[in-house]
Amino acid sequence: MSLKSDIFEILEQNRGSAVSGSEMAERFNVTRNGIWKAINSLKNDGHNIVTVSRQGYCLTSESDILTAVGIKRGLRRNDDIKINILSETSSTNNDAKRLISEGLSGYTLVVADKQTLGRGRMGRSFFSPEGGIYMSLAFGVDGGNISNALRLTASAAVAVCLAVEKLCGEKPQIKWVNDVFIDGKKICGILTEGISDFETGRISSVIIGIGLNCGNAKIPDELSEIVGVINRNGVPRCKFIGEIVSNLIDFIEGKVEFIEDYRDRSLVLGKKISYTKNGIERLATAEHVDYDGGLIVRHDDGSTLLLSTGEISVRV
Ligand code: BTN
Repeated sequence: MSLKSDIFEILEQNRGSAVSGSEMAERFNVTRNGIWKAINSLKNDGHNIVTVSRQGYCLTSESDILTAVGIKRGLRRNDDIKINILSETSSTNNDAKRLISEGLSGYTLVVADKQTLGRGRMGRSFFSPEGGIYMSLAFGVDGGNISNALRLTASAAVAVCLAVEKLCGEKPQIKWVNDVFIDGKKICGILTEGISDFETGRISSVIIGIGLNCGNAKIPDELSEIVGVINRNGVPRCKFIGEIVSNLIDFIEGKVEFIEDYRDRSLVLGKKISYTKNGIERLATAEHVDYDGGLIVRHDDGSTLLLSTGEISVRV
């Protein structure tokens, strides 16, 4: 950790009380001037730090700056999670892929303030302006297969819904398989990717990428009919991230079951939908979501089909 993050961690632990500059200087084996410079740099980053005469430095209110310390504070559990914060990146899923190739243990989280080449499902791009939440959680899996991937994707959607409900008081819904909506507008997209082991040919690591439009993120007019933004009144993003990651790890590790919650939040169950398979579009009714997150649909002739990939449209 750098001196700046060491100082921030101490101020964060003592939020609301002053921490002596000379004590920090002694503890980190630097001059008081070094502490003063690091404090100024933290202030320039936007942290709300005040100098209290004869007492030291005090972190006052929470800011919306993404920090590893802030995210850790929002986590409900003390897992082995390595947190990487970036002010700007092409895609956090790409960063996570690179970190996997360098070797992973436990969970690795990459979070960015902005993405320049955010990726969505089906090769689409994901608009990722500054101020939203763009995060990827990477971890190793034992011989994962496609049904695990679908279930993980479904679990991420529930993890986001629960966090939004807890911190914003709104009840999001899920369009199969993993788009999260509020009032008919998409607030979150999820892209789950598997990395295969060259030798076994099986999936050895998974990356769950989550893009949540929130806070100050500016959405262009042409998207404002379909894209929604939550949390305009400013719950710090670190809290959301901590909450989402905690929910997600509970689901990944099987500590909490989520599929019934997923079904309750479904925007599609009981509705007429269309899907495309082998280039042919068919109409059906969305009947059930199975344990793995697959969608069972019933055609008008009574036949049923289990959808495990692709996208559906809800017919109005
Ligand atoms: C979709 O709606 O099609 C999925 C969008 C997934 C976007 C997230 S943002 C964080 C991570 N990095 C990416 O490039 N994509 C995912």
